[in-house]
Amino acid sequence: MDIIKLRINVANYDELVNLMLNCTKCKLYSTRKRVVPGEGPLNARIMLIGEAPGEREDEEGRPFVGAAGQLLTKLLGNVGIMREEVYITNVVKCRPPNNRDPEEDEVDACRPYLVTQILMIKPQVIVCLGRHSAREVLTMAGYPEKSVSNISSIRGKVFTARIGDVSAKVLPTYHPAAALYNPRLREVIEDDLRKVRSLINKSERG
Ligand code: URA
Repeated sequence: MDIIKLRINVANYDELVNLMLNCTKCKLYSTRKRVVPGEGPLNARIMLIGEAPGEREDEEGRPFVGAAGQLLTKLLGNVGIMREEVYITNVVKCRPPNNRDPEEDEVDACRPYLVTQILMIKPQVIVCLGRHSAREVLTMAGYPEKSVSNISSIRGKVFTARIGDVSAKVLPTYHPAAALYNPRLREVIEDDLRKVRSLINKSERG
């Protein structure tokens, strides 16, 4: 994947957000209420990437504010990560109708936004929430699709990734929505999130 070709040439973050807010590149623009670009400090060391906005996110224009998002915020807090310190976005920025999975053309259309966000924020650690996110980010980093499609077998593993000029550790875990229905997964997600700090510290030690 040619990351540099995917990068959107914008002067700054606000310009990128503006492009997202006015995007009509795929069919989701006709059914969305609001675009959900992402939020968080632009110098965040941790970037969380989910799948797609749900109903609440579509109404508010903010990522992870519904039930799955509230659980995510709680799990982050339980392992000592404040939501305010992470940048959170999704693979696709508009809600798919009835929360269906994003389709390939939608993921393709949104890819330049995600690439440009990663290149701007330059996170040290990217946490992929769920299989769509893990597949998207790890294939971007050159991992073969087949090797990263099964979230149960790759969750909790630390992948080294180079995306353009960004070197990051990528840590896939389950999507918090799955843990709403299967509370046992909450501990698993927490265990995975607990690794995040050590990955940052390692990078900082050089
Ligand atoms: N699920 C996601 O993947 N992203 C959100 O923003 C909300 C729910």
